[in-house]
Amino acid sequence: MNTDSAENYRDRIHLELARLGIPMQWIIDKKLPFYPEATELVRGDCAPDGRECLMTPATAIAWQNMKKAAQNEGITLDVVSSFRTIERQIEIIQAKLDRNMPMDTILTLSAPPGYSEHHTGCALDINTPGCMATEPEFENTSAYAWLQSHAHRFGFSLSYPKDNTLGFIHEPWHWFYGQRV
Ligand code: DAL
Ligand code: ZN
Repeated sequence: MNTDSAENYRDRIHLELARLGIPMQWIIDKKLPFYPEATELVRGDCAPDGRECLMTPATAIAWQNMKKAAQNEGITLDVVSSFRTIERQIEIIQAKLDRNMPMDTILTLSAPPGYSEHHTGCALDINTPGCMATEPEFENTSAYAWLQSHAHRFGFSLSYPKDNTLGFIHEPWHWFYGQRV
């Protein structure tokens, strides 16, 4: 991204934050990292419902290796969400506002547009058959136990453990490939 387009991108984010009613001070206080949208993406997998899951090429390779290793030990890992555009993150937050969810609650569940790890193409929401996707019950699955023991070998780490300083709920399903900014 050149300097002009990076500035346009930040301006666009600021406008959207104001439109949604997300205070910039909240982002500053929580020290949320800013994430540009990834530009190089490949289809890393399909979700169980057939949706295409885009991710960076390196994330896709690491994901496929991890998924195979888990399967060899009888653990099925599915990806249910990966790269998200700024627009998609806005839609997710807008849908919660439309259900009259208070912003304080929304910001424990969803990152503001421009601040979601999903923009990087390196964050994956993982599930396993028989479990509701992106729900706390994932913590009690053998898939989560397997990830806790083995995900680091493939370059993945849990982004939002219990009591994380970013203010998000514990997300046992959300894993990030590579080094964080
Ligand atoms: N659920 C995580 C925090 C996100 O919206 O990126
Ligand atoms: Zn996620």
